[in-house]
Amino acid sequence: MKKRDPAEEEQQPHGRGAADGEAGGRGQRVPGSSRRAFFNWIWAGLGAAALAEMVWVVASFLRPRASSGKAGDPGAAVIEAGPVERFPPGSVTAFPRGKFYLARLEDGGFLALSRTCTHLGCTVPWSPETRQFACPCHGSAFDIRGEVIHAPAGRPLDVYRVFIENKTVKVDTGRRIRRSAFRPDEVVYAKRA
Ligand code: FES
Repeated sequence: MKKRDPAEEEQQPHGRGAADGEAGGRGQRVPGSSRRAFFNWIWAGLGAAALAEMVWVVASFLRPRASSGKAGDPGAAVIEAGPVERFPPGSVTAFPRGKFYLARLEDGGFLALSRTCTHLGCTVPWSPETRQFACPCHGSAFDIRGEVIHAPAGRPLDVYRVFIENKTVKVDTGRRIRRSAFRPDEVVYAKRA
């Protein structure tokens, strides 16, 4: 058996590049090597694009939502309802964009009521004749404060936070507040001049 000469071994190419790309002599490249380099560039490009998209998605998620007013929560979706005097006591005004009713009670206090029935989620219209929110689906009815007058609804209409700035009524529609009964501290009053 012939013994291998170490000097001979040193002249043998080592590694993948040598095996694939330089067969046939030093510096002489074969087409497989450039093809591999090309695909490496493609993969690197796709990876960079995927990373950029991921960064964009995360940034979009963290960006605060647009707000039309100043609320305690910077991400709040605040709707400016209008000046206090625009709403007479005992009135109910619909705000379709915010999906709520602004009720002004007889004593001058404001409540923002969700228009979604607490039974199974139908939209409840306000009836000025009966002075009730009457659900067309299964007959539930609510008074001007959102309290249940007729079942099957088992709890009052949800509310949104109301605040008054510079004599203008604003409603924070960013969070719907579920309640089990009407509470007087939900009602917001304009400061007397
Ligand atoms: S959804 Fe309103 S009564 Fe059923």
